[in-house]
Amino acid sequence: MALRKIVLKTDDVLRKKCKNVEIFDEKLGILLDDMAETMYKANGVGLAAPQVGILRRAVVVDTGEGLLELVNPEIIKAKGSQRDVEGCLSCPEEWGYVVRPMEIVVKAQDRHGKFIQLKLKEFFARAVCHELDHLEGRLFIDIADEMVDPAELEQESNKKTTRKK
Ligand code: NI
Repeated sequence: MALRKIVLKTDDVLRKKCKNVEIFDEKLGILLDDMAETMYKANGVGLAAPQVGILRRAVVVDTGEGLLELVNPEIIKAKGSQRDVEGCLSCPEEWGYVVRPMEIVVKAQDRHGKFIQLKLKEFFARAVCHELDHLEGRLFIDIADEMVDPAELEQESNKKTTRKK
């Protein structure tokens, strides 16, 4: 495994729509391993392939319930709504409120191409929605309805919801 460089919001690569993964080979496994290592090192809860410069539909998420790898993910059902503060590893020092569904059903493939379907809610659903936006070239700062002063967040910095994705 190796750490990859996380690109910042000024990089055009974050503004492009990602292509489906079509080949489930060792290279994909290495990418996913590297993404997980990079996410953990940065103390993030999610990372999408374009954040390491790869325009393919692959994300990793770990909100404390174990590592989840999603390849070619799609939200097939969404229910309810929640509004909370988000951050992004590609947007250091920026925080803002984003409305997301409370519950989602995601269909995806694993690193071997096997189809999986998951029902996720609350913070886990938020994290996955944030990562899927990256695959469309969309950042949370585009859809935040209110930005937050980082100083105000400092006292709450241990809150799980304010960890970056
Ligand atoms: Ni992000």
